[in-house]
Amino acid sequence: MNSVKIEDLRKKYGNVNALDGLNIQVDSGSVFGFLGPNGAGKTTTLRILAGLAQADSGSIFFGSENTSKSGTDQKARLGYLPEEPAFYGWMSPREYLDYVGKIFKLEAKERQLRVDQLLEKSGLKEAAKRRIAGFSRGMRQRLGIAQALMNHPSLLLLDEPVSALDPAGRKEVLEMIEGLSSECTVIMSSHILADVERVCDTVGIINKGKLITQAKKQDLLDRYAIPALEITTSNGSASLMPEWKLRLEKLPAITGVTVEGYRFHLAVKDVHTSQQEVMQDALHHNVTFEKLEVVKPSLEDIFMQLTGSLK
Ligand SMILES: Nc1ncnc2c1ncn2[C@@H]1O[C@H](COP(=O)(O)OP(=O)(O)OP(=O)(O)O)[C@@H](O)[C@H]1O
Ligand SMILES: [Mg+2]
Repeated sequence: MNSVKIEDLRKKYGNVNALDGLNIQVDSGSVFGFLGPNGAGKTTTLRILAGLAQADSGSIFFGSENTSKSGTDQKARLGYLPEEPAFYGWMSPREYLDYVGKIFKLEAKERQLRVDQLLEKSGLKEAAKRRIAGFSRGMRQRLGIAQALMNHPSLLLLDEPVSALDPAGRKEVLEMIEGLSSECTVIMSSHILADVERVCDTVGIINKGKLITQAKKQDLLDRYAIPALEITTSNGSASLMPEWKLRLEKLPAITGVTVEGYRFHLAVKDVHTSQQEVMQDALHHNVTFEKLEVVKPSLEDIFMQLTGSLK
C-alpha cells in the first residue's frame, strides 16, 4: 500500500488553471474522498496521478519516492477507473478481465486465478459468461473496478464511480469499495456527498484547482459542526407553516430556516436557547408539532459552506 503526497501541483489548459497549486496528503490504507464541484480539477488530478496527463509543475510522492524524479513507471502499482469507462460489449466479463490480465502480462495460471477472484469480489460470478452489452450500469462499474484491481495495485484511483448510478447500483458499488481498503489505498472522486460520507475515512475538498480543506471525515464533521434543530410538524399544522416560518426566522437564537415538506430545518446560534424559544413560541401560538430534535450537520452542509462562497 502506498501513501500519496501531492505538492503544489499545477496544470493549465490554455487560460484555464485546472490545477492551481494543489496540495494533498493521502495516508496509506485510507479511502480518500476527493470532493469538489464541477470543473474543480478532480479528473485532472486523477489523470496526472495515473500517468495519463502531465502536470506543468509540482511533485507527486508515492510513499517517500518523488515520482517525477525517480522516473519509475508507476502504472504497475496503480489501478484506474476513468469517469466514463468503455468496454467491449461483445465480451463476457471473464473474457474482458482475462484480456486486461494479458495487458499486464500475467501468466495464464495466475490470470485465471485473478479473474476468478475478481469475478467473486465484484459479485459478477453469476454473470461471468453474459455479454457486457447487456449489463446494468452498476454491473459495468463493478467490472470497471475489477479490471482496475487486476494488477494488485497499491493505489486505486476511482473517478466518480457511483455518480451515474441509481440507488441500488450505488449501494452495490459502494459495498465493493468499502471492502477494498484492506488491500489498497483508494482515492475516489465524487460530488455525491452522501456516498463519500458512507465509504471514505478522509475527505479532501477542492475548488478551482486548490485544496480548500482536508481532514478525517469525523474531524471535518466535528470542526464545522453548525448546530441545527429540526421540527417535524403535525399534520394539522401544515396550513400554519408559512406563518410559523416567519416567526421562527425572527427568534434571536435562530440564524436560518429552511422548509422540507413538513419539516423545518433551523440553523441556530445556540441549541439550548433556540429550543426554549421554539417551545415558547409554539405554546404561545398554540402550534403543535410531532418532534423537535437536535441534528448533526451533514457533509453536504459543510461542502456548501466551504465551496459556496468561493464559486
Ligand atoms: N483536456 C482539456 N482541455 C481543456 N480544458 C480542460 C481539459 N481537461 C480539463 N479541462 C478544464 O480544467 C478544469 C478542471 O476540469 P476537471 O475535468 O479536472 O474537473 P472535475 O473536477 O473532474 O469536474 P467534474 O465534476 O465536472 O468531472 C475545467 O475548467 C475543465 O474545463
Ligand atoms: Mg471529473
